[in-house]
Amino acid sequence: MLDVRPDAERRWVHLPDDRHVPIHLLPRETTVLPHDRPIVTYDHYGPDARRAAELLRSRRFDSAAALEGGIDEYARLVDPSLPRYREGEGERGLLLQQLPRPDTGCLAYFLGDLVAREAVLIDPGVDTDPYLEALRGGAWHLTAIVETHTHADHLAGHSALHLATDAPIYVSHRSPAQYPHRTLSEGEAIDFGSEELRILETPGHTLDHLTLRVRDSAFVGDTLLIGACGRTDLGDGSPEMLWDSLTGKLMRLPDEVEVYPAHFGPRHLLPARYVSTIGFERATNEALSQPSREAFVRYMSEGWPPKPTGFERIVRANLEG
Ligand SMILES: [Fe+2]
Repeated sequence: MLDVRPDAERRWVHLPDDRHVPIHLLPRETTVLPHDRPIVTYDHYGPDARRAAELLRSRRFDSAAALEGGIDEYARLVDPSLPRYREGEGERGLLLQQLPRPDTGCLAYFLGDLVAREAVLIDPGVDTDPYLEALRGGAWHLTAIVETHTHADHLAGHSALHLATDAPIYVSHRSPAQYPHRTLSEGEAIDFGSEELRILETPGHTLDHLTLRVRDSAFVGDTLLIGACGRTDLGDGSPEMLWDSLTGKLMRLPDEVEVYPAHFGPRHLLPARYVSTIGFERATNEALSQPSREAFVRYMSEGWPPKPTGFERIVRANLEG
């Protein structure tokens, strides 16, 4: 694997066991590359990698090829834990990292302003070591810990993370949380660097459910899952409210908005996929294909697996701290 990006981008993420030759140096550095092994060039999205592979083929590296879609695509399809970054105007840049926990099928999210080094964590799990490591490794300042909702399926890590970093915990104003926290309501925002996490209230899976938006991404918790939606029978949820949140809020977002859910994989009867788009879910999601609110309410009351044992205890523990 040959990374052809500039030094600055490489600092944020690179693939293991690769080599690095920035594309502007490639024309005079081809002599150091091996002719007896295939070379796959890569960048973040793909275009520089294609140009680099073309150049290499013209220099008799016949099997040189580019990683189509770059790290961004690779992270979506193969390894969601690879950080992705979005450029902005001028010096701005946003880093987005999915933090999957295969044992629980949960996804937490790390978002950072690459210039200001300010970050937020969404739905962190109870083992905080990976988050603290990421924060230390990138010299990030954690400005907020955000819960999309009160989880019933796993223990949340907000309090441990708050103790370790002093970052405030944010939850919906409708949450009955008993630990020290700040509340969020529709239309409010949390700033980190020059980025902004905007709040949509999407009750239904639970009464206190929030969807968080940054640029063209929506962190939807369990309101919308890939091909499905979160169940409404593990606490104070309501299928009627969920239908209204889905149709009245999320389905009003543009098709290109990326959907980042809180769960993935077979443990939650979901595909092993980590990201979708509003447009794709609009077209394919079974929950959204219900023809009416009444049909959706019926759909939500039939065919679900038994409630997981101990979910009431988990909810209590997550509300206490
Ligand atoms: Fe949930």
